[in-house]
Amino acid sequence: MKNSIGIIGAGNIGKTVAGHFVKAGFPVLISNSQDPESLAETIAFLGQGARAVRPVEAAEADIVILALPWSEVPGLSDLTDWNGRIVIDATNHFITYAPDFQVADLDGLASTEVVQQHLSGARLVKAFNTIFFKILEQDPQVGNGNRVLFVSGDDSEAKAVVSQAISAIGFAPVDLGSLAVGSKFQQAKGALATLNLVKIG
Ligand SMILES: NC(=O)c1ccc[n+]([C@@H]2O[C@H](COP(=O)([O-])OP(=O)(O)OC[C@H]3O[C@@H](n4cnc5c(N)ncnc54)[C@H](OP(=O)(O)O)[C@@H]3O)[C@@H](O)[C@H]2O)c1
Repeated sequence: MKNSIGIIGAGNIGKTVAGHFVKAGFPVLISNSQDPESLAETIAFLGQGARAVRPVEAAEADIVILALPWSEVPGLSDLTDWNGRIVIDATNHFITYAPDFQVADLDGLASTEVVQQHLSGARLVKAFNTIFFKILEQDPQVGNGNRVLFVSGDDSEAKAVVSQAISAIGFAPVDLGSLAVGSKFQQAKGALATLNLVKIG
């Protein structure tokens, strides 16, 4: 049985990531800020294997993916008991969007370290945040290679589980190390943000 994937946020990134997992046969639970019925079109698009739920149910999945605005992350603290849960942080810490794209002042912390503070005990892995969704939604097999998705995290078991899931949907996971070091390269304005790389062989 494949790990269940719970997605909090059903916009550009949530739907795109859901599409890859459904295609690979993972059970997907996807949620937004409204009633699950509001996701009827999304479920019709994703097809069998996807189910619309409330965030509280998505948070109970084997792997939880945060795909909602940065400003909404603090509100997730009491959603569930996060202790031990594997959580992929796909957010970017923007506080304004086009044209200026300002990021929050995090006092030197990586953005996923700040997320970690809100989700007490969760095993955070930063992934799926570097690529624009229009590129992410494309076939991860490119020529003889696979599109790269970076992973950073402090819990090696969680990182291995997430890396396996990333491989299973056809991308090439590249481990950048810890949250304090690796995820800073990945996050908004980091050196690897927006890069679209393909791993050959
Ligand atoms: N767009 C990209 O290419 C891209 C790439 C990498 C990373 N990211 C990051 O991914 C995150 C999502 O971006 P996006 O472009 O997908 O945004 P989006 O299209 O605006 O979608 C945001 C989703 O989050 C949901 N949401 C908002 N508050 C929520 C809450 N409290 N609980 C549950 N769901 C909630 C919204 O639901 P409602 O519709 O019900 O409000 C909506 O489905 C952001 O942090 C962004 O920086 C985006």
